[in-house]
Order: sequence, then C-alpha cells, then structure tokens
Amino acid sequence: MGSTPTKTWTILAVDDDADILAGLKSFFKDHGWNTQDFTDPEAAFEWGKKNPFDILIADLKLPKFSGLALHEKLQFYYPDLITILVTAYYSFDSAQEAVASRIYAYLSKPFKLQEIANLVQMALEKKELLDRNRQLVDEQQQLIEKLLFMNKELKQLSRLKSDFVSNVSHELRTPLTSLKTVLYNLLHGIAGEMTPKQKEYFEMMEEDVVRLERLISDMLDLSHLDSGKTPFKPEPFLLKEVIEAALRLFEGKTQRDMKFIREYQGDIEALEILGERDKIERVLVNLINNAVKYSGDGKRVWIRVKPEETKVTVSVKDEGIGISAEDQEKIFDRFEQLEKMARGATEGAGLGLAIVKEVLERHGTEVRVESAPHHGSTFSFELPIHRQRVE
Ligand SMILES: Nc1ncnc2c1ncn2[C@@H]1O[C@H](COP(=O)(O)OP(=O)(O)OP(=O)(O)O)[C@@H](O)[C@H]1O
Ligand SMILES: [Mg+2]
Repeated sequence: MGSTPTKTWTILAVDDDADILAGLKSFFKDHGWNTQDFTDPEAAFEWGKKNPFDILIADLKLPKFSGLALHEKLQFYYPDLITILVTAYYSFDSAQEAVASRIYAYLSKPFKLQEIANLVQMALEKKELLDRNRQLVDEQQQLIEKLLFMNKELKQLSRLKSDFVSNVSHELRTPLTSLKTVLYNLLHGIAGEMTPKQKEYFEMMEEDVVRLERLISDMLDLSHLDSGKTPFKPEPFLLKEVIEAALRLFEGKTQRDMKFIREYQGDIEALEILGERDKIERVLVNLINNAVKYSGDGKRVWIRVKPEETKVTVSVKDEGIGISAEDQEKIFDRFEQLEKMARGATEGAGLGLAIVKEVLERHGTEVRVESAPHHGSTFSFELPIHRQRVE
C-alpha cells in the first residue's frame, strides 16, 4: 500500500494584537501547520469564505464584529466549522452564546502557546474525522446515485425486452391463427378427402399449432404481467367457483384415469376472495396441469382449501415424481424444465410456474412448494378473504 500524503492543515487566526498572531504563527509552523492571520475580522471573513481552511482561532473582542460573529458568518459556508475562541474578557454570557453556536473550545487570555497547540491538535483530529465522515457520506451518495441510475437503465431495458417479446408474440399469432384455420378446413374435407396417412400427418401438425399457440399466449401474458402495463384490478369472486371451473378442464378429460380429490375444510360455499378471477383460475389450471403431467397414470391429485380468520390457503398436492430441494429453487424461472425427457413430459415450455409466481406476486402473495423426489409435490398459496357472501 502506498502511503497517503499528509495534509498540511491551515489555521485561520484572527486577533487585533499583531504580536499574538506572530507568536502563534511561528509556534504553529514548528508543528507543521500553516497559519493565515488577520487583525481585521472583515478581511478574515473575505479570505475565509473563498479559501477552505481547517480551524478558526479568533479573539472574541475584535473591531467591527466579534470573533463569535465571524464564526457564525463563516459557518454559513462551512457548516462543520471548528472554532477556538480566545478572550481576555471572559464572561458567562458569551460562553453560553459560544455553546449555542457550537464553538469547539473557549480559551481565556493569557494562555500558554503549548496550551493552544494542544487544543488545536485535538481540534485537528476532530476535523480529520469530520472530513473522513463527509467523504464517506459523499461516496455513499455517489453510490446511491449510481445505483438509481443503473436501476433506471435496467427498468428501461426490461421494458424494451417486454415490448420486444410482446411484439414478436403478437406478430406470430396472426399467421398461426390462419394456419390453424387452413388445417381445420383441410381436416374437415373442405379441399377433398384425405388418405388416412395424410390425415394423421395433418393432425400432428394441428397438435403442434395448438402447442405453439399456447406458448405464444403464455409469453404474451408473461410480458404483459411484468411490463406493469396491465393495472391490478381485483374484484370479489367466489373461490369455490373458480376451483371448480379449473377442475372441469381436467376431470374426466385426462386419458390417464386421474382422481381429483376435493378437501375443503369448513364452509367454503360462500367464501369470497378479492383478486383477479381469471388470473387465479390460470394459477390453479397451471398447478393442476403440472400435478397431472408429472404423475403416473391413475394417481390422485388433491385440491385443498383451508380458510382461516382473514386468509385462505389453497393447495394442489400430487403423488407424482416429486422435485429435489435443489430443483425447487429453479422451477419458477422462465423456460426452466427439469430433465424434460427423463420425466417423460415433452409438452410445455416451462412457463407455467413463472406465470403462477407473477400472478401471485401481483396479489401480494407467493407460491410455496413442498416436495421430495418420488414422494409427490404440494404447491400452495394464500389469498386474503374478502367476506362470506350473504345471498
Ligand atoms: N407437480 C410437479 N411435480 C414434479 N415436477 C414438477 C411439478 N410441477 C412442475 N415441475 C417441474 O418444474 C418444471 C417447470 O414447471 P412449469 O409448469 O413452469 O413448466 P412446464 O410444466 O414444463 O411447461 P408449461 O407449464 O409451460 O406447459 C417442470 O418442467 C417440471 O420439471
Ligand atoms: Mg406446467
């Protein structure tokens, strides 16, 4: 480490007695301190306000205005000004004033040079601390400004990214919709009968188009959610209705003979939640979809609702392949899919849980996962209860 050059301290000394000034100046010089001396407080003030110095030593009684007044005038330019006041006319009043004006020390004449040098030495140590402190505060302020600037830039970049994803998704959607119509028409014999092989290929194409359509709509939804463009518009809705609507999409519709078990604790018939109904339904659909997708045939999926005084906990539990603790940290990231092929699921893009997370964050809550490999998974979240609906 290189040594820091030692600073030469500057003392502004004001006394109407030129001999005292001369004595101080030469004594301070031996200590390596620089002294700027004035017999006239006005001249001292003019010099002081333009030239930063470290300590003011002033006689209390001066022509024109007092040493205390000089201190107060200079304090306007240097709020942390350290001043030693000297006087032959020690009076209680001025001592009190001195305290009120945050005078560092008060020394009565006659004083020994060593006495004032000791005081200056202590004052300089304080000054050094104050300077260091101010420097740290400045550095901290600069850092805060830098962070704020970077944050602004990041927000701008993130908005650009969202806009880009949103525009691209939008552009992809239009040709996809016409492709879907063409495929539908072909499959329904509009362009003439197809051979079974042709039909098989076209059906595969149709499946892929539906998958692409879902991916694009997920990407669009996510970019809308995090662009902050869609304002949060909560409304009261019946929780049970939304759960049942989500379950209808799966019950009897999966070809895997899954069993859906409702475990509703207490009376949830009239339980109203304040939130965005469609988005909460989406959360449930995504969680149930995963529970089905990552479980074997004929397995059970539990939908649990547990109301408490002010909140209700909703959970989706499966007895599927489970997720390791390490993987649990990743699954909410966009496009994150765990060993896709090993898990036997090829469908999806890894956006389902990212949407769940965004939607719940928007509602001021979060999704939790409890799981262990081969021991199933439980995803749960809490929502605030609005009221029990009275018909
Ligand atoms: N219930 C679950 N059991 C085991 N693994 C799960 C479960 N839910 C999610 N995962 C794991 O977390 C990953 C991310 O889930 P996510 O729902 O975000 O994506 P996905 O289901 O692969 O695709 P998408 O939901 O976009 O169709 C999944 O790929 C899977 O590996
Ligand atoms: Mg999913």
